[in-house]
Amino acid sequence: MKHHIDELAIFGGQPAFTQPLHVGRPNLGDRQRLMSRIDELLDRRWLTNDGPLVQEFERRLVEFTGAKHCIATCNGTVALELAARATEIAGAVNEAEVIVPAFTFVATAHALRWLGLRPVFCDIEPAGHTIDPERVEALITPRTRAIVGVHLWGRPCHIDRLQQIAERHGLALLFDAAHAFGCTFRGGTIGGFGKAEIFSFHATKFVNAFEGGAIATNDDVLAARLRLMRNFGFAGYDQVVSLGVNGKMSEVSAAMGLTSLESCHEFIAVNRRNHEQYRHELSGIAGLTMLAYDPGEQSNYQYVVAEVDAEAAGLSRDDLVEVLWAENVLARRYFFPGCHRMEPYVSASEPPHLPVTDRVAGSVLLLPTGTTIGPAEITEICAIIRTAVSGAERVQQKLRERR
Ligand SMILES: Cc1ncc(COP(=O)(O)O)c(C=O)c1O
Repeated sequence: MKHHIDELAIFGGQPAFTQPLHVGRPNLGDRQRLMSRIDELLDRRWLTNDGPLVQEFERRLVEFTGAKHCIATCNGTVALELAARATEIAGAVNEAEVIVPAFTFVATAHALRWLGLRPVFCDIEPAGHTIDPERVEALITPRTRAIVGVHLWGRPCHIDRLQQIAERHGLALLFDAAHAFGCTFRGGTIGGFGKAEIFSFHATKFVNAFEGGAIATNDDVLAARLRLMRNFGFAGYDQVVSLGVNGKMSEVSAAMGLTSLESCHEFIAVNRRNHEQYRHELSGIAGLTMLAYDPGEQSNYQYVVAEVDAEAAGLSRDDLVEVLWAENVLARRYFFPGCHRMEPYVSASEPPHLPVTDRVAGSVLLLPTGTTIGPAEITEICAIIRTAVSGAERVQQKLRERR
């Protein structure tokens, strides 16, 4: 355990880990179960096009979320594009506006822009890092068609307040729930809110399908339209009745999705235990605050998010990332510098003034969690952080020399 500053790798000590510890390292579930599903799908030679595993995966998603319909897709980005098309947010008016938080994975904004919509970036609220409903109304113009809330870190955004705003102004409301599979809002499972909610089952998500996504909705008409659009608009053997794309999930992805889903509660229990351990072992470190989960709600605990106050810690978030990388702990900043400062948005117009987004994008530190990391490794990571902060001045000096 690295209790002394000279033991840190930046000062020449051995890295704490020989193998890198990643944020978002995939959980695998029961490998034999996965292999037997893959064997079966190969025997069937039904590899894609609404196969039995995709159908079963969709049934399981419906059971799990309580949403009336779940339409599996090839990834979360295409799920969002399909949802925006099928709800007619996109397509009717060119350059129509959609209000989104700037602090999210860039796919939220890109999916909309790809359809010719203009993302209008809204600031977030400091406590939970989700879109600040207080700031949404001021961004509404005659061109606004929708609001897309993002349940960041598995913490639902202010669904009820966004719903009120959307209703008051006649706007569609969608949720990017890529982080929030298995989470609840006021006891209701994520998947049943707004016109539709979209999930990602990307390899880095705690339930994964290699690549995959889904759209959850309670609207029968919308679900039927989404199924057509996901498959080029085919309504039958050679009957094309609408515009569509290839948004289908493959059978091998569904095999992984089903296997992953079967271990979902075990993954959540591990994430929760890891989260509690980090909370306990990082407590009292100057300038470091961990984002808490609401104990009254169910969560997947899939992200361990700390905020670094550089002044109080004596080290910036980026300093700590550098210290940790030298130890083979691949901690990460996330969504930096915010979508409003990324292309193509930053060149299209002067970035809006989003002080909370800018502060949070500069201070969040994500630490490794999931089934590939154990208690001893977490203790070591926390000790590295504690030791670095306690010797902040010397660490800073060393980092300056290295740069
Ligand atoms: C918040 C958010 N939205 C959208 C996506 C896009 O999902 P996918 O990678 O499955 O396309 C992701 C994840 O990757 C995400 O984190």
